[in-house]
Amino acid sequence: MPPKSQIPIEFEDLLNRAGKRVLAGTASACGALADPRRRFVALRGMVDKAKAERLRGTLEREMSAVLSDLNQPIPPESIWEMERNYDDWLPKSVRCRTAYLENRRGAAWRRAKELGLVDLLSSQSMIAFGEAVLGRKLDRKGGQQVLRYGHGDYSGPHTDHTPEIKRAAKGYLDFHLSLVGPGVAHQYLVYAKSGHFTEMAPVAESGCLTLYRLPFWHYTTPLQAKPKQEQKAARWVLLGTFLYAD
Ligand SMILES: [Fe+2]
Repeated sequence: MPPKSQIPIEFEDLLNRAGKRVLAGTASACGALADPRRRFVALRGMVDKAKAERLRGTLEREMSAVLSDLNQPIPPESIWEMERNYDDWLPKSVRCRTAYLENRRGAAWRRAKELGLVDLLSSQSMIAFGEAVLGRKLDRKGGQQVLRYGHGDYSGPHTDHTPEIKRAAKGYLDFHLSLVGPGVAHQYLVYAKSGHFTEMAPVAESGCLTLYRLPFWHYTTPLQAKPKQEQKAARWVLLGTFLYAD
């Protein structure tokens, strides 16, 4: 096991000066998602590059083996059982590797806990950072997930709306930290504004922080590797999900 210091257990310890200004409430990103017209924000240049790279190396080494395939292809019935011309219907399709850090008896949770990942993604400063950008208080008890997009991995259009979970039905916050290794050419988040998929943000940048005021329509384009780098190209996402405080 690597020394624990490789994964800071406080999110703040990953931040550089620009990132810490968000925690201090003095950065322009503060309140960015308080605007009801804004659903998504990507923040660059806030995470220490060397720490991001060490964290990515630790994930690759320590977490790869405990991830599972998430593979939901487009159902063939979506074409062959259509009865009316152009009456398209597309459920969520996705392909990547992931671990939902929910089941405390599972190997992924145990490994993530040993490494400090669970603590990092539920740390006081991670919540405070989310609150600063969102402009409102969050429930301290969040959910955590780890994803790894390899070459060609993507997620199709979806909303992340959960109307059956009462407290999340009116919205919640997803907070992603991207960690990107060598060999990745690009990956984008495309999202809808005013009913059209007009918005697009690059996400294949190590240390990029993306915050989503869900639900809204979005998709992640297939990760593209640089030539001959398909095997090793990967983007890791550390994800915290937070309900709004009452
Ligand atoms: Fe999503």
